[in-house]
Amino acid sequence: MKDAPTRALEDTRFLRALRRELTDVTPVWLMRQAGRYLPEYRATRARAGDFMRLCKTPEYACEVTLQPLARFPLDAAILFSDILTIPDAMGLGLTIDEGVGPRFKHPLHEPSELRRLGIPDPETELRYVTDAVRLIKRELGGRVPLIGFAGSPWTLATYMIEGGSDREFIRAKRWLYGAPEAMETLLELLVEATTQYLNAQIAAGVDAVMLFDTWGGVLTTDAYQRFSLAPMQRILNGLKAGTPTILFTKGGGQWLERIAATGCSGIGLDWSVDLAQAKRRVGELAALQGNLDPAILRAPIAVIEQEVDRIMDAFGDGSGHVFNLGHGITPDIDPEHVAAMVARVHNYRRPKDLRR
Ligand code: CP3
Repeated sequence: MKDAPTRALEDTRFLRALRRELTDVTPVWLMRQAGRYLPEYRATRARAGDFMRLCKTPEYACEVTLQPLARFPLDAAILFSDILTIPDAMGLGLTIDEGVGPRFKHPLHEPSELRRLGIPDPETELRYVTDAVRLIKRELGGRVPLIGFAGSPWTLATYMIEGGSDREFIRAKRWLYGAPEAMETLLELLVEATTQYLNAQIAAGVDAVMLFDTWGGVLTTDAYQRFSLAPMQRILNGLKAGTPTILFTKGGGQWLERIAATGCSGIGLDWSVDLAQAKRRVGELAALQGNLDPAILRAPIAVIEQEVDRIMDAFGDGSGHVFNLGHGITPDIDPEHVAAMVARVHNYRRPKDLRR
């Protein structure tokens, strides 16, 4: 039998919405909700020294995970970590510096180097992540659910091959088209590593998991199916049964039916997607999360409120909606604007309620 806090958590807005059950108001959280737009985050990061020390010290990771929840009545917490922890634990040597972004000291130059990669043990090499999960769960005390996450194999592969961010994905696409079997070997290694990693996060206590497929949208439809969606499907198949899952492919709007067919609980939407149309296309198969252009948070509060209403109107009646941005919040956003956005979501009344 489940204990009382677990039952109460299952009844929260976020987990209810992922099961497409009705909620009193629409749940809301933000991608990158713990981040540089918060002065308290910058202060903790300065104390930690750098970003990776912040991630690798469970007390710091816990502290910054909870910071946005102290400011805003958010409906979920997300583990503070990064998608690149797996390649780091595989020996690629990650650094993340302000203004430079992620860099690997030892990127993959050619397929023959695949031999040097092993599958990291989540309870030793990535122990700092599961320790952070256990600590955060204890500090949250069942107030809101905790989301765990990982990158999609394809997205991780692009960083591992490029050594960092590259707008054109020249090297990663050279592998994909020139050595597709080697690419599949790499992706399969990442499927195995990610499945173990997410199951360890689940065992440590996360209440839902999200796969970030930031770069799936740069692929052709055939390549997306084979090199991005199929590996994500294999991860979903390997997760502890009953865990709520969210799949987010940025730029994946044209593939929503295929994404829904994976059996994920929720689908992340970027801002280019028409939400009302997405709801018709996905139907009963999955909940929908996201859609607000993060750039709108720079606009005056009245404009932000209009945009929130537009998205809420577009979703319309029914269950299965999680409000979020279409991608991560940027460092230049005024936290007051975030507060206004969250309040507008929670205070939203559907037009028919006003007519009563
Ligand atoms: O959402 C959260 O609050 C949880 C934490 C989280 C981070 N990264 C913290 C972070 C999550 C879920 C991620 C995911 C992530 N990391 C993705 C997928 C989502 C996306 O944004 O597309 C990707 C592609 C990465 C890789 C990564 N890590 C990049 C490209 C960067 C640099 C970003 C930048 O703006 O410089 C990072 C670093 C990073 N990860 C930061 C944070 C808060 C900023 C680093 C800092 O504090 O200096």
